[in-house]
Amino acid sequence: MASLAASDLLRTDHRQIEIALDRLLATVKHPCEGMVLQVGEIFAEIQRLMEPHVRKEENVFYPHLQAAFSELLAEMDEQHEYIAELTAGMDELTGMAGMGLTERQFLELIRLSMELFDAIQHHIVDEEDQLLRLADLHLSVVEQDCLAAKMRASKSAQDR
Ligand SMILES: [Fe+2]
Ligand SMILES: [Fe+2]
Repeated sequence: MASLAASDLLRTDHRQIEIALDRLLATVKHPCEGMVLQVGEIFAEIQRLMEPHVRKEENVFYPHLQAAFSELLAEMDEQHEYIAELTAGMDELTGMAGMGLTERQFLELIRLSMELFDAIQHHIVDEEDQLLRLADLHLSVVEQDCLAAKMRASKSAQDR
């Protein structure tokens, strides 16, 4: 079986993350009873996908491209930081869901969910249109294979 290039592995992760993001947006667009628990479950799924993905990027992919595309990577790092801030806010609110949210917290959960959707979706588009496109031109097949192997290793180290 032909192995996927490192940049394609990241694109594949993005497609999975987008499915979960679409579910999050669809859920908060129709606020109802039980929504908070659903948002909590979908948010946990987004985190389960995002954590190893961001680790692959920050520990393997970005460092390899740092010298060639430092400005663009600084921008990508900033976007990761903003996503991490929103994630922390979501984590706090969904963690309180069992105790019942106040009206204000409920509205804040909807706002943060929409903001998280926008931030991650925007970041994925920037990565694919800019960083991954440039990486495909810049990296050799051997480099792509080597980075892909490192990313897989970082994933299985996490699974253990
Ligand atoms: Fe990223
Ligand atoms: Fe990404």
